[in-house]
Amino acid sequence: MLVAGAGGIGAACAEAFLQAGARVLIADQNTERLAAFAGTASIAADLTTTDGCEQAVRAARTELGGLDVLVHAVGINHRVPVLDTLDEDWDRILDVNLSSAFRLGRAAGRIMVDAGYGRQIYCSSVSSLLAHPDHGPYAASKGGLNQLVRVMAREWAASGVTVNAIAPGYVETALTTAYLDRPGVREHYTGMVPAGRLGTVDDLTGPVLYLASRQSAFVTGHVLYVDGGRTLV
Ligand SMILES: NC(=O)c1ccc[n+]([C@@H]2O[C@H](COP(=O)([O-])OP(=O)(O)OC[C@H]3O[C@@H](n4cnc5c(N)ncnc54)[C@H](O)[C@@H]3O)[C@@H](O)[C@H]2O)c1
Repeated sequence: MLVAGAGGIGAACAEAFLQAGARVLIADQNTERLAAFAGTASIAADLTTTDGCEQAVRAARTELGGLDVLVHAVGINHRVPVLDTLDEDWDRILDVNLSSAFRLGRAAGRIMVDAGYGRQIYCSSVSSLLAHPDHGPYAASKGGLNQLVRVMAREWAASGVTVNAIAPGYVETALTTAYLDRPGVREHYTGMVPAGRLGTVDDLTGPVLYLASRQSAFVTGHVLYVDGGRTLV
């Protein structure tokens, strides 16, 4: 399987799959993060580019002997009001969060559709549904991702390929910690979660393993909120 993104969520998923006995290749542009996976196949690639995505998929197929599962856990955020959002911020966030999903999903999808089997899992967000202020490009990228997931799911359903997303609320990773560390922010968001706490990366690995399994064969085009009830309120 190919895990794209070796940050907090991608690394936790890769660990969980390795523990379950899967053969894993991890792709990220950050070589320090890849270095944490000594002994595991990896590739340094800019996954906003078609070349980077195709190289990662080729490496997974060659080094693992095939590609049955793709987990996409690549993403960035930049919290500013829409009126202050620069074109380059918009372009960058859409590129990293959405275009990389399209380019990687397409490259992996070609192999999976040919093989007649595959599982693709994408990291969406509660921001795909809720209108968080200062999240214009991020929310747009995640809303777009949900729809991309649904269309790929429909197009590939008859080929044995399922495409789903998990949608977490706040989880402590490099993407969020500096923001959550601002005075009052962690408490504010914790208070919005019916479960009474923020998520952890370990909350996500079970849902991802399930969606990657053979047992989830009839689940496709689904966005699974893993958010302690955040989207209920
Ligand atoms: N952490 C959260 O609270 C949270 C909540 C909802 C959704 N998500 C989503 O989950 C996914 C993973 O988030 P995370 O918390 O692990 O973030 P993270 O910052 O810990 O990891 C993201 C990884 O993406 C990599 N990356 C960024 N741009 C890249 C590029 N062009 N090419 C290759 N790799 C690139 C980074 O190097 C990093 O390792 C993202 O899509 C994020 O939007 C996170």
